[in-house]
Amino acid sequence: MTKEFIRSIKGTQDILPDQSQRWQALETTIRNTMDTYGYGEIRTPAFERTELFASVGEGTDIVSKEMYSWTDQGGENLTLKPELTAPVVRSFIQNNLGGQSPMNKLYYIDALFRRERPQKGRYRQFHQFGIEAFGSEHPEMDAEVIALALAVFNDIGLEGLTLKLNSIGSSECRSNYRNTLRDFLKPHINDLSETSQNRFENNPLRILDTKAPHEIEILKNAPNISDSWTAEDKAHFEEVCFLLDTLGIQYSLASNLVRGLDYYTRTTFEITSTALGAQDAICGGGRYDGLVETLGGKPTPGIGFAAGMERILLALGDDDSSGNPTQVYIVGLGDGARPSVAKLAEDLRQNNIRTDFDPLRRSIKAQMREANKSGATIAVIIGDKELESGQAEIKDLKTGDQEPVKIKALVDHINSLTL
Ligand code: HAM
Repeated sequence: MTKEFIRSIKGTQDILPDQSQRWQALETTIRNTMDTYGYGEIRTPAFERTELFASVGEGTDIVSKEMYSWTDQGGENLTLKPELTAPVVRSFIQNNLGGQSPMNKLYYIDALFRRERPQKGRYRQFHQFGIEAFGSEHPEMDAEVIALALAVFNDIGLEGLTLKLNSIGSSECRSNYRNTLRDFLKPHINDLSETSQNRFENNPLRILDTKAPHEIEILKNAPNISDSWTAEDKAHFEEVCFLLDTLGIQYSLASNLVRGLDYYTRTTFEITSTALGAQDAICGGGRYDGLVETLGGKPTPGIGFAAGMERILLALGDDDSSGNPTQVYIVGLGDGARPSVAKLAEDLRQNNIRTDFDPLRRSIKAQMREANKSGATIAVIIGDKELESGQAEIKDLKTGDQEPVKIKALVDHINSLTL
């Protein structure tokens, strides 16, 4: 029986070669798009001080319930990163990036850890790509960030997406709205779930995120956050909308889109996919104009998003393109040919020809079967006879045609064929 520890942890998964090709294609699309939009890659450590995350989302599920945290042998409280905005802001401050340039546009592709209840599209180790742009508070930045997310999805071929857009205003607006919302909810407090009752005091905006039908019903008549916007919040949001219209980007207004982390100000957005089930958010993000300052840096506006890569691949559906097949398969006849087979394989590979041979020393019949299975276009057959004559037999695996070619001239010959 397989031992218990030969089983990956619940909510984590291996990405095997038949899948990694799809990941690489997605990563290539992301990197190319980031390059086009002028974003540079940032890589941060897998773990940070617990305090860093606690200071950006104390009232949130991610921070209060889902973090993988531990105290190390030196007594430091550490956490595997559950999201990347806080680490990127930490790095931005620590490396004084703001002092070196007024605009910093950063992107990442990384693994994250959240102890959530696993289900389709929701894992305990998952991957995100995302961006954080520091320096501009202006709506053209918001529009660029949203356009960039959509550009990646478009390039990779994702369809059936909806962009949901909201503004949760400045901190002044939110503080007013919190009171307005509490006043509205007070008469209904006993009808709210325990979670919402807990949120009522410390984070009432999160109640808007509820999935419970009876709470959604109550909230139908709730005051809208837009009623609490300041004049600047309103002007900012209207300009974001105007710019999205100008770029031809469609969106739907979602006044209850508050997002699950505490640092957001003004613009928040989410992109969902009709190809997914309950976990339909492909991407979420927004503005966080106060976060750099909260973490001890100079006041610097920021905006970003992160997108779940497992969800993107799920939404794309199965694709059985399993990468680039072998081009040449070398079949060795007899013990004497073995070094020549190894040497020829190396020569061809050095010339960027995808080559394989049979390291299991199987029969010729088995090797020919393997050659056909590998997807190779041609087989090169080498045995004692061929070594003596200095010629190998080249077999076209589609037509079955065979011809002798000088071993020394093989690279040139194969290069002259279109494989
Ligand atoms: P988030 O909404 O927590 O935002 O995560 C962004 C995306 O990550 C989600 O829309 C989803 O696609 C994916 N995701 C989240 N949790 C899981 C999970 N357990 N399994 C699989 N996929 C998951 C953030 O993380 C913010 N840091 C985004 C941001 C960047 N805001 C500003 N800048």
